[in-house]
Amino acid sequence: MKNKLPRVLYGGDYNPDQWPANTWAKDIQVFKQAEINSATINVFSWAALEPSEGVYDFHQLDAIIKELSDNDFSIVLATSTAVMPAWMFKNYPDVARVDYQGRRHNFGQRHNFCPSSLNYQHLANDLVDHLAKRYAGNQHIVAWHVNNEYGGNCYCDNCVKAFRLWLKKRYQTLANLNKAWDNAVWSHTIHQWDEIVAPNELGDAWGPEGSHTIVAGLSIDYLRFQSESLHHLYSNEKNIIEQYDQHTPVMTNVHSAPNKMIDYQEWAKDQNIIAYDSYPFYDEPWYKPAFLYDLMRGLKQGQPFMLMESTPSQVNWQPYSPMKRPGQMRATEFQAVAHGADTVQFFQLKKATGGSEKFHGAVIAHSQRTDTRAFREVAQLGHDLKKFGNDFIGSRVSAKVALVFDWANFWSYEYVAGISQDFNYVDDILDYYKQLYRLHVPVDVISVDDDFSKYDLVVAPVLYMVKTGLEQKIEDYVKHGGHFVTTYMSGLVDEQDNVYLGGYPGALKKLTGIWVEESDAVTPKKTVKVSLDGGLTCDATLVCDQIHLEGAKELGHYASEFYAGTPAVTINQFGKGQAWYVGTRLDDQGLGKVMADIIHQLGIQQLTTSQTPLEITRRQKDGKDLTFILNLSNQEETLTADFQNEHDLLTGQPAANTVAPWGVMILTK
Ligand code: GLA
Ligand code: ZN
Repeated sequence: MKNKLPRVLYGGDYNPDQWPANTWAKDIQVFKQAEINSATINVFSWAALEPSEGVYDFHQLDAIIKELSDNDFSIVLATSTAVMPAWMFKNYPDVARVDYQGRRHNFGQRHNFCPSSLNYQHLANDLVDHLAKRYAGNQHIVAWHVNNEYGGNCYCDNCVKAFRLWLKKRYQTLANLNKAWDNAVWSHTIHQWDEIVAPNELGDAWGPEGSHTIVAGLSIDYLRFQSESLHHLYSNEKNIIEQYDQHTPVMTNVHSAPNKMIDYQEWAKDQNIIAYDSYPFYDEPWYKPAFLYDLMRGLKQGQPFMLMESTPSQVNWQPYSPMKRPGQMRATEFQAVAHGADTVQFFQLKKATGGSEKFHGAVIAHSQRTDTRAFREVAQLGHDLKKFGNDFIGSRVSAKVALVFDWANFWSYEYVAGISQDFNYVDDILDYYKQLYRLHVPVDVISVDDDFSKYDLVVAPVLYMVKTGLEQKIEDYVKHGGHFVTTYMSGLVDEQDNVYLGGYPGALKKLTGIWVEESDAVTPKKTVKVSLDGGLTCDATLVCDQIHLEGAKELGHYASEFYAGTPAVTINQFGKGQAWYVGTRLDDQGLGKVMADIIHQLGIQQLTTSQTPLEITRRQKDGKDLTFILNLSNQEETLTADFQNEHDLLTGQPAANTVAPWGVMILTK
């Protein structure tokens, strides 16, 4: 099966090519002490594999693969196309990206190839062809890892030429294109295809990349085009690998935040397994990585994903990198597992003495000792995974609530010029995720194209862009008994970012049974009061929609400002289902009440109804429930009574009454 791994991989990026060959055997002995069974290799080795054009040298990689194979390691073999060797920049300057400021890059850094460069494509494909031919068939290779963390847009002439062809395909005529971008505004009408230029800082965009544009239709199309162009590079490599190996999964990894520039839902279709690099910031709440894991699991409709990278201790690129507290590493790696990861992999297995990441955490640290706290914790986790990996590998999460995340909305919502400069797509989505997390409700994070019908509730905050067909899809879902929550700044524009006329929220007006006349911006340090049914008064920020009811019922109204007394939160019966509209950014307490009321009204299962800061999630396999209890804090917590009769897989004992700081339980009945 192309989407399965033979076992729970425990390991990560390993760069033996940075060390003398006589150190490898010792490294592997150390890894084995921690039950590490896997290594991701060859991620950045192009300069060694092809020291000059067309001259290949595989002797070192052969030896590394042999060493790992002899030790029964599962190998994730990368293709090395993410860092271009110096000779490529020298011989073919067009391989280098032209950035958003219009500057062509020199040799240096990584991940900076132009996706439209035929020279890059030809050279990368040739390297992959050699690799795949040589190593396909090695039974120890369990996955092919294409490139690494794609991302970064290019604005060079080759890209612009390719963009014009892409636009011709999308719009056929310039009349269609001018209409789509509403080019009559500011005399932007295009009369010849070759008049189209890149929307970078020298053209129609300004501010940090992806934040401000004059012509949103153009800028969004450019992001679509760049994401697709990088995707083509991935597909090229994948197709070459598949000429030699039809059985091993092929994938690339995506990094945290999530990466705005890569429409990973689009990419997911030809990833055999989703691979995710997780590096939560030290000051981030734990529901954020939880959300990102749920997003990764949703990319292939619930298929388990790989936790491809994470750090065993510190990172080197965040402004501050506190040490992980005792137990924290194990608990946070288990957090990924609890949300659907079937691997636990680190960056990196061994710390280099030089280069840019010498102070990034690793299993083998600079001390090169195993009697360290970090190593002991890595080893403990290794033992846990060895013992219990078979219990959870392949298990699924079952959720009745879906939260919609959509890259076109990510782009378009943050390009909005006007009302407020504080629109942040991920933050606004997280407001809703946080409430569901707190209520211990399992959530699938899905795309606008996924099947809604299997969910009791679909939550789509700031669904600003509603593409053709989506309005109908949502209406059909609700009409047949579905439940849908949406918010301010939703339903406003079509896929070209042109506003639906006839009153906001445009495409969602019928469904929500309201119309919005205007939206007030709540300026910094100010709040507007909202009074919710049941008596709670809370604060609202960001924007306040001026709502008129057209069939919907009010669930809360503004309680300050000249529009006090007008609706702020509404519900509309639509066919057999209901649609909620939250017209402002409610504070934690207010949104907490709105979401809890909905969950209770619909009778949606909460894994516990007790209030507890413990993170509680569930995976299921062969009819058996595995409930993960995580204490992601420095304080001991009480286990809620619901679980006290269950059995803890990790200890082999009945569940304890308390969960230690950074404690983990995997409970079964
Ligand atoms: C990314 C890269 C790795 C490494 C880590 C460090 O995820 O893929 O090569 O640089 O960051 O955190
Ligand atoms: Zn380019």
